[in-house]
Order: sequence, then structure tokens, then C-alpha cells
Amino acid sequence: MARALKTQMAQATKKPIKLTVDNKQATTPDGATIPNACKAAGAYVPTLCYLKDINEIGTCHICLVEMEGYNQLVAACDNITLRGMAVHTNTVVVQVAPAVHTA
Ligand code: FES
Repeated sequence: MARALKTQMAQATKKPIKLTVDNKQATTPDGATIPNACKAAGAYVPTLCYLKDINEIGTCHICLVEMEGYNQLVAACDNITLRGMAVHTNTVVVQVAPAVHTA
């Protein structure tokens, strides 16, 4: 697991937080990974290299999502949810990114 993600998860309170996934309000435990939060909100984020507690290094970038306020795509499996964050899983940029990344 990446050190930054470990630090973020250690600081998480596990209390429910609200965020937006694909323009829909969602509630997830503080510290949930973005793919888990998206799944709870009914959005699918594919993962390939991520295996919970086994391989959490975030290298394949198949799970890229857009986060409002960030100027680049982020690996969802390598980041946790934050209160009020807005995630987009189904934009054109997100759909094309894995193909561009592996080309
Ligand atoms: S699943 Fe591989 S980087 Fe996220």
C-alpha cells in the first residue's frame, strides 16, 4: 500500500461522509477507497492490480477517475474518499485514459 494512502486511512474517522459520484449524492465511511465508495453509489470503477491487503500499489491505472479540483486524473484505488469530494467515473476523458496510458 502506498505510504500516502496508509497515512490517509490511519487518519480517517470511519464516520459517514457525503460526497458526489457522477453527480449523485452518496454516503460512505470516511476512509473508504474511491472504488468502494463508487460501488456503494452504484458506479463501477474497474480495478486490475488492486487486491485489498495484498497488492495496493496502484500501478496499472485502469481505475482512473476525475476528481473536481484536480487537474489530472487520479488512480481511484490509491486514494480514499474525502468529505464533499466530487468524483466522475464515466466521462470521455476517463473512458479514453486507460487506452492512452497503456499505448
Ligand atoms: S487498479 Fe491498478 S492502479 Fe488502480
